[in-house]
Amino acid sequence: MRENELIKLLGEMSLSEKIGELNQIPGEYYKETLNTTGENATLDFPQELVNAVGSAINVSDPDLIIKIQKEHIKNHPHHIPMLFMLDIIHGLDTTFPIPLAQACSFDPELVKELSAAAAKEACATGIHVTFSPMVDLSRDARWGRVMESSGEDTYLNSVMAKAAVEGYQGDGLENEGTISSCVKHFAAYGAVEAGREYAGVDISERFLREYYLPSYKAACDAKSGMIMTSFNTIGGVPSTANKHLLKDILRDEWGYDGVTITDYGSLTNMQSHGISDKDDVLSEYAINATVDIEMCIGRYYKGLPKLIKDKKITEKQIDDAVFRILKLKNRLGLFENPYRFADAQKAKQICRGKEMMDIAYNAVSQTSVLLKNDDNLLPLNKNEKTAFIGPFLESKDLLGGWPGNLKYRSEDKSVREVLEKNLPDGSLLMTVGCEMLGAEEPMLIKRKLPCETDEKARKDKINKAVEIAKAADKVVLLLGEHPRAGGEITSKVDIKIPIIQQELFNAVKEVNDNIIVVLFNHRPLDITHISKYAKSILDVWFPGSMGAKGIVDMLFGINAPTGRLTMSFPYSVGQEPIYYGLLPTDHSTDVSDTFVTGYIDCPLKPLYCFGEGLTYTDFMYDKILLNSKTLAKGEKMVASISITNVGKRDGYETVQLYFRDVFASVSRPTKQLRRFKKVFIKSGETVKVQFELTVDDFMFYNVDLNYVYEPGEIRVFIGHDSNTEDYETFQLV
Ligand code: NOJ
Repeated sequence: MRENELIKLLGEMSLSEKIGELNQIPGEYYKETLNTTGENATLDFPQELVNAVGSAINVSDPDLIIKIQKEHIKNHPHHIPMLFMLDIIHGLDTTFPIPLAQACSFDPELVKELSAAAAKEACATGIHVTFSPMVDLSRDARWGRVMESSGEDTYLNSVMAKAAVEGYQGDGLENEGTISSCVKHFAAYGAVEAGREYAGVDISERFLREYYLPSYKAACDAKSGMIMTSFNTIGGVPSTANKHLLKDILRDEWGYDGVTITDYGSLTNMQSHGISDKDDVLSEYAINATVDIEMCIGRYYKGLPKLIKDKKITEKQIDDAVFRILKLKNRLGLFENPYRFADAQKAKQICRGKEMMDIAYNAVSQTSVLLKNDDNLLPLNKNEKTAFIGPFLESKDLLGGWPGNLKYRSEDKSVREVLEKNLPDGSLLMTVGCEMLGAEEPMLIKRKLPCETDEKARKDKINKAVEIAKAADKVVLLLGEHPRAGGEITSKVDIKIPIIQQELFNAVKEVNDNIIVVLFNHRPLDITHISKYAKSILDVWFPGSMGAKGIVDMLFGINAPTGRLTMSFPYSVGQEPIYYGLLPTDHSTDVSDTFVTGYIDCPLKPLYCFGEGLTYTDFMYDKILLNSKTLAKGEKMVASISITNVGKRDGYETVQLYFRDVFASVSRPTKQLRRFKKVFIKSGETVKVQFELTVDDFMFYNVDLNYVYEPGEIRVFIGHDSNTEDYETFQLV
């Protein structure tokens, strides 16, 4: 539809139609009634609103979507089609590694590919918008939602945000196989106090702008169709109707003209925040902040008419919001084809088809992080006697929190099944050793997750594991968090593996020195004890639908793990939030000194740092070379380094460039990532990696909150991870 036709359509709509457009309906409405007519008492959505509603969440059946759309167009006074939205966080029917793992690939092309694959399945299913990517900067492993993020670094976060949006939206939303992204949660949900779910955020304007906002901006610049507000308050002001964030920064400074949506019920959240219990007051805050769609509670439906009647807001404000939604519908081609590419037959062919499964398989090794590999215990050799033990041995659920479509879980393979197929000669020693959870994990048990309640069975399983471990050359222990213990509402104060699994680990380590831990997790865990006794640790996060085969092939060296950490692993939960590049302090970082910065019972640095990770070969870095000793506006600095693969296998190395601005009008981080490149280097070969930098790479918010670069010394570090100490200097002039 041409823009003038859209304007004409808007002009013809009644006020109640327009208000309908600004409300979203929960999919349960249709599932319960299976049609689009009739009051649904429990959801309190009157028929007038249902007929005019602009979008729905949580319907994922193509036939049902077509049916609802057909009825809706018929009943709508101007036959405007609805938008169908869903949380597709790491794949719809095919589940890919969790987003935190995807970021560990340090490969934006992979993130793009996985998002595009998810979009392809979703598009055929009839979905128009995914509530992804989640780009909240995450530095506290207690917060359960870190699994949905790219981790602790602002620059990486922005690169991955852009990649995900480009993956979902392809070359344009008019094309088959695409869906709109909805970047979330605006803003700074990742900074909730002490990692407590739904807590408040207190953050300075400088840090908000410098560290937290760039990833949302990157997604908006990539033309994300939508952006979602967040549940948290910032300095007491709810983000959901925060005029400074949503109007001043998002609309006016960044020029964002896409659709904004509240989080689920987050206007009601504002009532809990103690702002007001009145529909019109809450709606006034939100519409003044230019929030377009209210997710599922109907507050806009109840509040907006009164505001217009009382002349507290203008109809133009409503028109602007409606017009943004109509434009998105138009971008998606819904006026020409309201069913878009929804096709049950096609969806069946695409979803979990070979193409998708191959993509999922390839992602596993690129996202897994080899944290430790003493004595080169990995890869395994088929001639050795290896025992496979642990609760993840027989689990078909390697999907992790917030998988798209749980109904397929039972079709996935377990590690045991893959091992039996690949090594059928009976040389395998295998036993689960324990259940995933023991009865002492109170919060998880409350969630009705199955656990071991039989003490004798608990002992017998561990004893059997010990017997098998004794007979083996090496033991692979498959341990970790419960697959439902990540995502929304999974914050924890104890970030060790469950106690029952710790018992198994301790019993096995007494009888075998060659322990390899395969770790399943949604967040950095406290694995200090494990790290002391296990010779190898392979972190596979939650690897998705092809996890089992991906893991077995990595263990036996068919593929090598190439991921790097994007969140630091702490020595202890007491270090959280922890991240690289802390602000510098006056005091020593050596624990044996009296005036040590940090703690007296724990190092300042984490156990495993940002960027860290091994593979099945080794690399040697030469000296850093800068092509100039100064950098001025309009110039380009080239930083280069040669890297040699000194191992026996070809492999990937992720080369990382950090910088430190030594003196500035405000204190600057000790290190900041500014470039990275994942390069393939053949055994024995040397490659030269080059990075280009300009003054824009060194800008920050100065003492007057102006975004500037300041002349002075810059240190450029290039190395394997954020611990690298090798640097060269130049002067910004
Ligand atoms: C609440 C979550 O915070 C958000 O991430 C999600 O997209 C919505 N619910 C919709 O399910």
